[in-house]
Amino acid sequence: MAETKATNIHWHEGAVTREERRDNMGQQGASIWFTGLSGSGKSTIAVALEQVLLQRGRHAYRLDGDNIRFGLNKNLGFSAEDRAENIRRIGEVTKLFADAGVVCLNSFISPYTADRDAARALHADASLSFIEVYVKCPLDVAEERDPKGLYKKARAGEIKGFTGIDDPYEEPEKAELVIDTSQCSIEEAVQQVLNYLESQGITA
Ligand code: ADX
Repeated sequence: MAETKATNIHWHEGAVTREERRDNMGQQGASIWFTGLSGSGKSTIAVALEQVLLQRGRHAYRLDGDNIRFGLNKNLGFSAEDRAENIRRIGEVTKLFADAGVVCLNSFISPYTADRDAARALHADASLSFIEVYVKCPLDVAEERDPKGLYKKARAGEIKGFTGIDDPYEEPEKAELVIDTSQCSIEEAVQQVLNYLESQGITA
């Protein structure tokens, strides 16, 4: 976990309460954390869910692993350390969105339990909702889909340390939701998340 390097810094409290922000937004913020293999359907579900939430007048925003690596996390690769830093930064960013009252949809492989748990702990400390969604998909199905042709490259040895091939993926053990995308449609997957959000009073 990253150390705080700065000294002589002081927390500056705002004048707006979380309740005021919630009333203003007409909803409660939350972080939804989609984890799973490349090609499992994380981004596809997040894209569809974001659209439905906006159509229903909700405030939602997506943070996507590939996209974030073009900007904020462009200086990170795929070593265990870099993946940890990737998830640490996004854990902090999605926490800010949740605090701002937005339903933030995160699609990151996030292969290590410790990194996901650290993001969860940040939210717990701030009394913010963190919903881990394990987008489960057998490796052979993800590999068959191979939407970006990356499994093929990894099998050919052109990508080293590819998750599921020669890099680990630690399955979540306490995810709030498990969605097996080899067994359901995108629409059904989106509905499962919507049902959960409603049951928690986040998008009632
Ligand atoms: S994470 O492991 O650090 O959470 P992240 O979700 O940001 O990964 O990025 C994963 C995406 O990067 C994959 O969907 C894929 O398109 C691409 N990628 C490139 N190299 C790798 C690799 N070695 N392992 C996994 N994904 C990779």
